[in-house]
Amino acid sequence: MSFLLPDQPLDSLDDWVALGGGDGLEAARRLGRDGTIDELRASGLRGRGGGGFPTGAKWAGVAAGRGTHRYVVCNAAEGEPGTFKDRRLMRDNPYQLVEGVAIAAFAIGATEAFIGLKASFTKEIDRLQQAMVDMAAAGLLGDVPIRLVPGPEEYLLGEEKALLEVIEGKDPLPRLLPPYLHGLFSTAPQMGWIPGAAQAGHRGAHESNPTLVNNAETLSNVPWILARGPEWFRTMGTPSSPGTVVATVVGDVARPVVAEVEMGTRLSALLNGPAGGPLPGRSWKAAFSGVANPVIDQSRFDMPMTYEDFTACGTGLGAAGFIVYDDSACMVNVARIFSQFLAVESCGQCPPCKLGSAEITEGLERIEAGTGTDDDIATIGSWLGKVTDGARCYLATEERDVVSSILRCFPEEFAEHLESGRCPRPRDLLVPKIVELDDGRATFDESQSRKRPDWTYAPA
Ligand SMILES: Cc1cc2nc3c(=O)[nH]c(=O)nc-3n(C[C@H](O)[C@H](O)[C@H](O)COP(=O)(O)O)c2cc1C
Ligand code: SF4
Repeated sequence: MSFLLPDQPLDSLDDWVALGGGDGLEAARRLGRDGTIDELRASGLRGRGGGGFPTGAKWAGVAAGRGTHRYVVCNAAEGEPGTFKDRRLMRDNPYQLVEGVAIAAFAIGATEAFIGLKASFTKEIDRLQQAMVDMAAAGLLGDVPIRLVPGPEEYLLGEEKALLEVIEGKDPLPRLLPPYLHGLFSTAPQMGWIPGAAQAGHRGAHESNPTLVNNAETLSNVPWILARGPEWFRTMGTPSSPGTVVATVVGDVARPVVAEVEMGTRLSALLNGPAGGPLPGRSWKAAFSGVANPVIDQSRFDMPMTYEDFTACGTGLGAAGFIVYDDSACMVNVARIFSQFLAVESCGQCPPCKLGSAEITEGLERIEAGTGTDDDIATIGSWLGKVTDGARCYLATEERDVVSSILRCFPEEFAEHLESGRCPRPRDLLVPKIVELDDGRATFDESQSRKRPDWTYAPA
């Protein structure tokens, strides 16, 4: 069952109109702002950016927020290793995303809307720009201006509080408060203030500008739900996770792929079906949903892809970008490359996050090289207990969850390194920050391994 990903990329707006393009925006106008939000709530759509937050509730919260201005931001930054689904959606059908943004902007009464993505996504930028020009000419763009904002390569670009900073022309450093409390171009200080009220010592009324941030796939679902109704959407998936999910699979599989499957499909069916199964002569050991969630060991590959099943198994569905490893991979190496990625990408505003993830990475490096000791295990354990202290964003939690889960799940691999003084499964692994995924081939960003903790790059 698939509707978000067409068999062939859409060539023109006419192709989108033939699929019902424009019907969603028309339905939203007919239903009115509250009716549109009610429809979203009834559909049970949950955010596809990683957290699975109920979309209708998010829209209602922002629409009810105080202040004179509200904004919509489409998060198309897609920086999570192992994901390519937002880029596939933007390439294959940019129209549904733009219509979703227009409907969201209408529903929450936005002044302006933004689509934030990496400047390096040139194909996607071209597709979106053309779609917006064509939709404007056909009167299908809605009444709220939509602006594309190209941003830097950093993983934090996709963190919603950092994305707002970038849209305001600053670096991707997460601000303190969430977008619904401290939105775009907000003039209010971030602590000790009441939204909308003037503060002593400040001139003029403060504005909190509640801002809605939704992932590109989340917003791509919106026109379909408005056009076909929440009951139609609920015919797919489970009561708690309705609809489909656009999953990415890379790593030790025969065919790296982006595939749309019904929510509730077993992970093993995705891996053995669209992703073509394991490589010849190999068996799978583990999978990760991005670098944000605890490891899924092979014994749990039959679990259904829903938010509730993944949570019940002690992990998370995340953005459904699966990184798969087989029996030739060293899990200490995997822990090291994930931790190194997070340590480099950490912005350093919260010292335990930057220092802790770097210390954990160094300990893992020594263990992987065979020079580690029990002290390294103890130091890693100690940092895992405090790396999230005072964290402004979820990156520090990712470090804690992913590394501690590998330690818990594969203790024998750590022991092997400590006892033998060498890595029993030496193999070069690259953190799968995808730059291209087509025809069963994935290409990863090799420059990531040269990126330094201050976000500069060592010479090649
Ligand atoms: C370090 C970090 C990176 C993130 N990167 C992305 C991203 O690239 N795209 C995205 O949609 N969400 C990303 N998120 C999640 C967003 O902060 C936010 O939760 C999401 O855009 C909300 O949209 P949704 O409700 O539609 O899922 C990231 C979060 C963190 C902590
Ligand atoms: S938790 Fe880490 S990445 Fe997030 S704001 Fe703090 S230092 Fe930066």
